[in-house]
Amino acid sequence: MALNLYNSSRVVSRDDQVICGASRARYFPMVIQSGKGSCFTDLDGNDYIDFSSSAAVLNTGHSHPRVLKAIKAQLDQYIHFSCDYLYAEPQVKLAEAICRIVPGDYKKKVSFGHSGSDAIDGAIKLARAYTKRPGIVSFMGAYHGSTFGALSASAICHEMRRGIGPLLPGFQHLPYPNCFRCSLEHARSTCGLACFSMLEEAFSTYIVPEETAAILIEPIAGDMGFIEPPEAYMTALQRFCRKHGILLIADEVQQGMGRTGRWFSFEHFNLEPDIVVMGKALGSGLPISAVVAREEISNALEMPAHLFTLQGNAVAAAAALATIETIEEERLIENAKMMGDFLKSRFRALMKDYQVIGDVRGRGLSIGVELLADRELKTPDPEAAVKITYECFQKGLLMLFLSSNVLRIQPPLILDAATAEKAVDIVEGAVKAYSKNQLGDEALAVVKGW
Ligand SMILES: Cc1ncc(COP(=O)(O)O)c(C=O)c1O
Repeated sequence: MALNLYNSSRVVSRDDQVICGASRARYFPMVIQSGKGSCFTDLDGNDYIDFSSSAAVLNTGHSHPRVLKAIKAQLDQYIHFSCDYLYAEPQVKLAEAICRIVPGDYKKKVSFGHSGSDAIDGAIKLARAYTKRPGIVSFMGAYHGSTFGALSASAICHEMRRGIGPLLPGFQHLPYPNCFRCSLEHARSTCGLACFSMLEEAFSTYIVPEETAAILIEPIAGDMGFIEPPEAYMTALQRFCRKHGILLIADEVQQGMGRTGRWFSFEHFNLEPDIVVMGKALGSGLPISAVVAREEISNALEMPAHLFTLQGNAVAAAAALATIETIEEERLIENAKMMGDFLKSRFRALMKDYQVIGDVRGRGLSIGVELLADRELKTPDPEAAVKITYECFQKGLLMLFLSSNVLRIQPPLILDAATAEKAVDIVEGAVKAYSKNQLGDEALAVVKGW
């Protein structure tokens, strides 16, 4: 029986009248009422397991008591006073904690914003100011955000660019190292890191190294479909950047804050980026982002070249500090790794029975399950992604997909084994029904996705 979404649908119709359509990728017509831990309830009383964490935001889960307590305590003191003009201790405490969790034995400084996008813009400003060079190199298929700087660095789809140009000058995009779909059609074992040779060739022909300020990379590319570059590529990239005085910027907006089983995904590659960008999960749902850079890079921008009236808002900063403390004290990074390994092993087992599951990849609780119409040819099956996620939704599991055919599995890091089991059983039921051609076409009219 289909879910009762009567109350949700009334809000969705009102939303259609007043909310700009460009501010949404359409998945399910459901409205949340309340959330707790790994689960939430909608306006019609339907319960769901949350395998999205609200797009990798709720790493501490819905309404973690410790985060709530910190928010309430700060609200009782004061909500905000602009740090553009005065000073605020919640902001300082948070910056101290961030400098501690970002690895690297050197002096760092932090600037705060409200979204991953504005933080990417901040990183671009810092890199240009420090190197006195204009060029920014990022990767095809990457998503770094939707402000003009972040969007200029992104290269994900026409819809995000059409009609709004010109974007910022000075940006170039190179192929992301993707061993599952190598753009050079090499096999991983014999490729000789041809993708890195291609980057070197680009820099020896049309991209001028001494005019390049930074290479911006998401060390595990989330919206590209959870693509992880070979370690040797990342090592070579770091070396290349150092040799040419190009800064390395790590976009940790989606993969950071413990999600991949380390504080930051660049740690899986032993990288030492010059600038680290974070957002999303930092505030457990309150809007706060941060750019962390070596002190000398931070000092390259003149006062007041990068400030926002609400930067480091006291309530958001208190939530973010509580988020860091919760991740540490509840050992959520370890839990992300353990639960992630469990989920991957369950999904890999399903691969044996269901041809539609073409690949299972990712780290910690950032897992991609790629759905294929033909395993041999690696033909994407976007219809499977729509139908399977819609069926899961109907059965009480909120799971998104991205890159058209990759299931996006990013539950809160507090996930427990029983909830994980229950969720995978729902996914298995949906995959089974899809494989037996039992899922109708209704979902295709409802779900558009990303
Ligand atoms: C890797 C990455 N960078 C940047 C952003 C932009 O963050 P925000 O939506 O908070 O502006 C996102 C958002 O999805 C992201 O996934």
